[in-house]
Amino acid sequence: MKVTVEILRFNPERDKAPHRASYEVEVEPTDRVLDALNSIKWRQDGTLALRSSCAHGVCGSDAMQINGLNRLACKALIRDFAGKIVVEPLKGFPVIKDLIVDLDGFFEQYRAVRPYLVNHELPPADERLQLPQERARIEDTARCILCASCTSSCPSFRANRAYVGPAAIVNAHRFLFDTRDHGSHERLDALNERNGVWRCRTIFNCNAACPRNIHIAEAIGQTKRALLLQT
Ligand code: SF4
Ligand code: F3S
Ligand code: FES
Repeated sequence: MKVTVEILRFNPERDKAPHRASYEVEVEPTDRVLDALNSIKWRQDGTLALRSSCAHGVCGSDAMQINGLNRLACKALIRDFAGKIVVEPLKGFPVIKDLIVDLDGFFEQYRAVRPYLVNHELPPADERLQLPQERARIEDTARCILCASCTSSCPSFRANRAYVGPAAIVNAHRFLFDTRDHGSHERLDALNERNGVWRCRTIFNCNAACPRNIHIAEAIGQTKRALLLQT
């Protein structure tokens, strides 16, 4: 079958403004949007810029807006779209070229919440053990692949790019509620800043945007509660 893919293209070195370009692509219904984009890049226009790596929904590198919703191109099947497929870069981040956005600020906000295990005790001989029910508390947020779809979809973030954003809070949550972690005080302090967790207005766009179906708004609620209980 043939499908029309319309891509919002922008090369800051050459273009004054973004423009839409349409491509006819030969695809199978079971192909992914990523396959269609690769076909365009490999067979029609090698200047098209996009990121992808695993092609199986694991690395988070090919998040983009497809027909108005943030999705991973490698998990979006052609057969699920009727008519034209419109592809745009993630909103809320500066465009480097075409579908590639600058995520430096996103990862800076991620690093600000100390997204790693802090434990002041000497490591045991084998591993730091955890009970299954303790692990269950962080099971959901530990599945984040840092695709930035949630942060991009958040109106609070779009209005104020200094807001730490849902992805960073999800990754803070993953360690805040880890029974082996000793870093919650500093982590909560970082989230209690002016542009921290309180900028979340419980709009829930983030939940709908997450390709891993993580309960982001709920994790943010639990993080807010942890802050209130601490102070
Ligand atoms: Fe992506 Fe979901 Fe992680 Fe947000 S929480 S960065 S949408 S995987
Ligand atoms: Fe934004 Fe999600 Fe909160 S969309 S306002 S981070 S619930
Ligand atoms: Fe890795 Fe899509 S290419 S998640």
